[in-house]
Amino acid sequence: MTDRPPRRFWGIVPAAGIGRRMGAELPKQYLEIRGKPVLQHTLERLLAVEVFSAVVVAVAAQDRAWPHLACAGHPRIRTAPGGPERADSVLAALRALEASAAPDDWVLVHDAARPCITGADVLKLIHTLADDPVGGLLALPVSDTLKAVESGAVAETVDRGRIWRALTPQMFRYGALLHALEDAARQRRPVTDEASAIELQGLRPRIVEGRPDNIKITRPEDLPLAAFYLERQCYE
Ligand code: C5P
Repeated sequence: MTDRPPRRFWGIVPAAGIGRRMGAELPKQYLEIRGKPVLQHTLERLLAVEVFSAVVVAVAAQDRAWPHLACAGHPRIRTAPGGPERADSVLAALRALEASAAPDDWVLVHDAARPCITGADVLKLIHTLADDPVGGLLALPVSDTLKAVESGAVAETVDRGRIWRALTPQMFRYGALLHALEDAARQRRPVTDEASAIELQGLRPRIVEGRPDNIKITRPEDLPLAAFYLERQCYE
């Protein structure tokens, strides 16, 4: 019997967005929370987990702030050129791993704009999905009643029992995710997360319940909320 090489884990952080909804001059990943840029918090959290052979950050071509980030020179950080959409940035980061990653290796994709990710949630995802053939994502059940709306009026109330909010990290095999994202791009199917691309292949990503404080910084009011969560997590 031959020993299979141990499966490796790679991190991918799309960080090439401009954060239009934030209305700030700097892209949202460079706004500061508790004295550090959002992206620095995010990368420190991922690097602390220690399972990753490397973390590839997709950085926009016009990004002048990246080289000044404390994490930029970290030995386990690599970069890839960002693309026009999130999926293009993730694809570029996957291609940057072509010479290093095996098709069966796991890739965890995590938004730069989610600095409150905990090591415990990353490990929960990894341990739950370790033997899964497909992979999956952190997600949260919704607590509000949901309405489908047409022309400003309620068309129907949606059964919220079936609805979960997709978070990140999302964890899939390197080869399967590369193929799924390339296929979606070829078919011009818009995908706003990795799971959508995997679903287009007819596969069913698993759902792993994540923490509600893993918020995505989107609007100005999210910054003090993230600062509050980061502070509270220090005492856990
Ligand atoms: O804009 P949104 O909040 O959905 O972006 C999610 C993540 O994808 C952010 O971390 C953002 O920097 C990244 N992104 C990217 N390339 C793009 C658009 C978004 O890496 N073209």
